[in-house]
Amino acid sequence: MSHSKRDGFGSRFGALVALAGAAIGLGNLWRFPYLVGNNGGGAFILIYLAFVAILLLPIMYAEFVIGRRSQANVFGAVKKLAPKSWFITIGVLSVAVTITILSFYSVVGGWTIEYIVKSFSKGFLITDNEALKNSFSEFSSATYRPAIMHLIFLTLTALIVVGGIKDGIEKYTKFLTPMLFVIILILLIRSVTLPGASEGLKFLFYPDFSKLTASSFLDALGQGFFSLSLGMGCIITYASYVNKKENIRHMSLTTVVADTSFAVLAGIAVMPAVFAFGINPTSGPSLVFITLPQIFAQLPFGAVFSVLFFVVLFVAAITSSISMMEIVVAYLSEELKMSRKVAVLATSLVLAFTGILCSLSEGVLGGFKVFGKNLFDLFDYTSNNIMLPLGGLLVVLFVGWRLKKADVLDELTSAGTIPMKKQIFGAVIFILKFVAPIAIAIVMLSGIGLIKLF
Ligand code: TRP
Repeated sequence: MSHSKRDGFGSRFGALVALAGAAIGLGNLWRFPYLVGNNGGGAFILIYLAFVAILLLPIMYAEFVIGRRSQANVFGAVKKLAPKSWFITIGVLSVAVTITILSFYSVVGGWTIEYIVKSFSKGFLITDNEALKNSFSEFSSATYRPAIMHLIFLTLTALIVVGGIKDGIEKYTKFLTPMLFVIILILLIRSVTLPGASEGLKFLFYPDFSKLTASSFLDALGQGFFSLSLGMGCIITYASYVNKKENIRHMSLTTVVADTSFAVLAGIAVMPAVFAFGINPTSGPSLVFITLPQIFAQLPFGAVFSVLFFVVLFVAAITSSISMMEIVVAYLSEELKMSRKVAVLATSLVLAFTGILCSLSEGVLGGFKVFGKNLFDLFDYTSNNIMLPLGGLLVVLFVGWRLKKADVLDELTSAGTIPMKKQIFGAVIFILKFVAPIAIAIVMLSGIGLIKLF
């Protein structure tokens, strides 16, 4: 090991905006509203909140403990805390799932750039659903343009990450993350003041339990992992850059609250508008690219709202994609001793390739299917429903069973300087040891159809 000081966040605020930026992403805007729509509105939100409070917050504690205690990348962390243990698979899984997610994530990031540009063009804002659908599928299934947009998005991500933590990630998320909240509030105010907006709010919050199925639970848990950036070492990596004196329980809570409230705000910004214009709310991931433009078309100054919306989507995406790239870059530079520049370049080259494959799978490579899914959907499905929960499972087992309780307590209390109630610590350990592993296993197995719950 060299003795040069490891890079890290320069301030508490810097760490918080980076963490919130990592958590808030396409998942909140592109996935949450439509999952809610498909799974009985308020009923789904309730399940989601329960998962977040009971399972995901303790799992976030666990990732914080691993990262901050070891002050290393995911591989290095496991090696340091448990030398020669099979838990090193956490590191392998983390790099694999990051590449998988970032491949399609960056493609969608590219779409957001396209739609920012489109928002400025005349004739983009039309109310004709068919025409918008065609224009979206024409674009996303094209060979070159979406691939180029993906490469632009990836390049921007790389340019931020190459700057490091303090002078890269922190510097940019400091203004990008607050910007997310400002824009979503503007959109929300516009949406809820539309006539007929209350239907949308009712749809979003009124719990329809009859629409829940076993897979709703898997969706909620998968979404929770994805949205909070858990289960793939992202929080471990960012936590490794957090100062030893900081209160990591507080940081976890702030991240969770920021992300969850942003998801709900995004739902409130989207659904009332959808209902005000009598559009079917369960229109899937294409909700944001096909449905919303129809709405913007009917608003006075619609182009302004369109630009704002796609900017928020883009910003949310890039503050997340940098967090993912950092996982791989930290691994390459610390374990394989690459310079940061080379590590970023290597990661980007791999992602350029895998992302282009994902992009093409929406078009010319669409005929190539695994389990009936094209590459894009396959990556999306396996990462969310299998790899992330599996990663989460390993993390909770690691912290719950392998680490010494005293060490976990030491880290959660920042070496005893920030006291923690005995009962609360006991509950966290109990959740990590028993509740979380069992819940994750059940939800995962039933969701992929291996066991039948209902
Ligand atoms: N949480 C982000 C979103 O909601 C995506 C993301 C960023 C992520 N980093 C991650 C997902 C790490 C899983 C793991 O869009």
